[in-house]
Formats: sequence, C-alpha cells, structure tokens
Amino acid sequence: VTADGAQFWNLDGFPVRKERHTVPWRLEDAIKEPYPTFMLKEIMEQAGVITNTIGGRVDFATGEVFLERLRMTAEEARQISRVAIVACGTSVYAARVGKYILETLARIPVEVDYASEFRYRDPLVDKQTVVLAITQSGETVDTLAAMEEARRKGASLWTIVNVAGSQADRRSDGVIHMHAGPEIAVASTKAFAASLVDLYLLGLYLGHLRGAISPRRGAELAHDLARLPFLAGEVLARDADCEELADRFLKVIQLRERRDDLPGELRRADCLYLARGINYPIALEGALKLKEISYIHAEGYPAGEMKHGPIALIDRDMPVVAIAVQDGVYNKMGNQIEQVKARNGRVFAIATEGDDTIGTQADHVVYIPQIAPLLAPVLTVLPLQLVAYHVAVKLGRNVDQPRNLAKSVTVE
Ligand code: M6R
Repeated sequence: VTADGAQFWNLDGFPVRKERHTVPWRLEDAIKEPYPTFMLKEIMEQAGVITNTIGGRVDFATGEVFLERLRMTAEEARQISRVAIVACGTSVYAARVGKYILETLARIPVEVDYASEFRYRDPLVDKQTVVLAITQSGETVDTLAAMEEARRKGASLWTIVNVAGSQADRRSDGVIHMHAGPEIAVASTKAFAASLVDLYLLGLYLGHLRGAISPRRGAELAHDLARLPFLAGEVLARDADCEELADRFLKVIQLRERRDDLPGELRRADCLYLARGINYPIALEGALKLKEISYIHAEGYPAGEMKHGPIALIDRDMPVVAIAVQDGVYNKMGNQIEQVKARNGRVFAIATEGDDTIGTQADHVVYIPQIAPLLAPVLTVLPLQLVAYHVAVKLGRNVDQPRNLAKSVTVE
C-alpha cells in the first residue's frame, strides 16, 4: 500500500485485479469526540441512524417499500413458506422482535435460532424457506456457518447487515443494509435500532407483495415509521432521567453487597428484566447490555413466567426492570409489578407518557412517548442502553472495551 494506491498479488506472485468499492462512511463517524466514549456517541446517534435506514426506501402515501438489493415478484413472495432467522448476541434479540413484526405484517411463520445452535442441529429448511441472517459485522463465524448450512440445504439466503462488503453481505441472495455507520464500541446499540427498522421495512415489503397489507393500512404503518426518528430523539433527550434511574439502581445493588445478615454468596447483585410480548426481547437485550459492560449479573424473563420460578429471588435488594408500555399486555405487566412490590422488590419501569398508574407502583419510571406497538421496541431499548451505560461508568468500567469480549467473534 502506498500513498498513491494499493497493489495485490496472489500467493503465486501473480498480480490480481481488484474491484473498487466505495465505503459509504465518513471519517468523522470513527471519531468519538465530543463524547467521552464511542458507546455514548453511538447511543446518541440513533435518531439519525433510524432516519438514514428509512431514507429513500418508503413511499409514505402507500407504505410501499423499495429495497435496493432485495427484489422479487408477488408470486415469489407468496411462495415463501417460512422465514428462519439466525443470529448471535444482540442481533438474535433483534431477530426475536422481528418474529413479531414479520408475522404481523407479512403473515409468514418465523422461527428464530441462535446461529451457533442452528448450524449443528440439522435444521429442516428447503427451497421455500428463507434463511435470514442478522449481523452488524457480517463476519460472525457462527452466523456465517449457519448461512452455509442453509445454502447447502437449498434455502434462499438473505441478510440484514451493517458492514457493506462483509462476508455475509457477499454471500447472500438478498441484502438489506442497516445504514448505522461504523459501530466501534463492543456493546452493540445503534445497529440494534437499525436492524429493527430494517425488519419493519422487510415486513412492509413482504406484506404488500403477499397482499397481507391494504394500501390504507400500508399508509398508516408508514406514518408510524415516519414519526420514529423524532420520537427516538425525544427519548434520548431524557438521558438525565436514565442517569437518575442508574443512580437508584446502583444504590439497591450496593445495599445488597453490604448486607452482613446474608451469607457471602447471596451478597452478589442480581437483577431481573421483565416484559411481555414484543418487548420481551428488549428485556433480554437490556439485561445483556448491563451484563457485558458493568459485569453485574442480570437476566431477562417473560413476565408471565415469574410465578414459575424467578419470583423466589425477589427481596428488598432485588432491582427489577419492567417494561410496561401501553399495549395489549399492559394490564398483565401491571399485575406482575404488583407481585414484585408485594415482596418488597424494587421496580424500575419503562412506561408510556401520561400513565399515572405505573408512577404510583414503581420506585422510578422513565417515560417514552406514545408509539405504535410494533415500533415500541425501538424506543423501549433506548433507556435500557443508557441505564446500562451510566451504571457501568459509575462503576469505573471500560465501557467501550469490556473485558473478555471482542467486537466481532470470528472464531468458535
Ligand atoms: O456482528 P454481529 O451482529 O454478528 O455480532 C453478534 C454478537 O457478537 C454481538 O451482538 C455481541 O453480542 C455484542 N457484544 C452485543 O452487544
């Protein structure tokens, strides 16, 4: 490589011609200033990332969607019998939200698998199956291996990917880019939001082609999407509320660590993240964010399963994060919060603006604006990212490069 360009040779010493590709990222995308960390920068960029991911792809009058590298006829879309999504880590939680989105909008059955499980379990896929990989880096070894397995079995291969030119991008028949820009912090944040938007676009695209969405419904769904960047900006502007929640959350954890009435092994902090329905994967993602950057153990759980075991954990030093926004399972979440309070647990809630009931039940609430339920996860995840971030910073952790973790897992 010289200042004038680059030359390539193969292992036998013969020159190789390479195609030139333009990377659509700007130099300033890779600079963290004025933020203290890349993670905070990437969290705060999300309203813009959502705008870029939607940009130029939606006809807001009809809800019809244009995807540059995924094109098919209505007949081909109707032939799809199911979608199997494969991914790892944060991307698999995006996939779980995607199941709700695609089943609702496109009326196609969707399965979600950890790529590391899918690749070894001799999965049942055929020519009518679409295997959809979700990957920020496009280089995660298990995801690539799951894609190979799907290809071997004759499935169509699609990917939702951030890094253009990555292996996942090059190996797929259909590609939807995230337009999140370079994600540098190890903990994934903005790529998650972009994946959810891409899944919504895919749902609209397939829903139209398969006749599952009328033009009128399409326009309503597109209208909901159009408001999303603005609403995400509103949530991010409530960072001070999230930091206050993080302060209180940490105090509860520290109380437990100082309790001398408990044997040593019970003094270690544990947190529960509860939600139901489409926000359940956000509970999983919120718990993962806390674990990976603060090293505090946290577990995401479907709230309806509490009584089958985890409720035994609740006591006065147990922080419980509950996502209780106004949707079809709101009342059920309210019941669960009461159950936790009845056992002296500490509840930190994410609720919808204007909801006065949750405020009287929970110890601290961060509010998000009203939003259509299918898009709510894009907003409910934001306070959880910020809370994890502030907890980790207050504990003096290296949030951009947490111990034992790599940005892209390229070995098994
Ligand atoms: O690049 P990918 O989306 O394929 O990466 C998958 C996971 O390795 C990644 O999401 C990991 O779990 C992050 N550290 C989560 O914040």
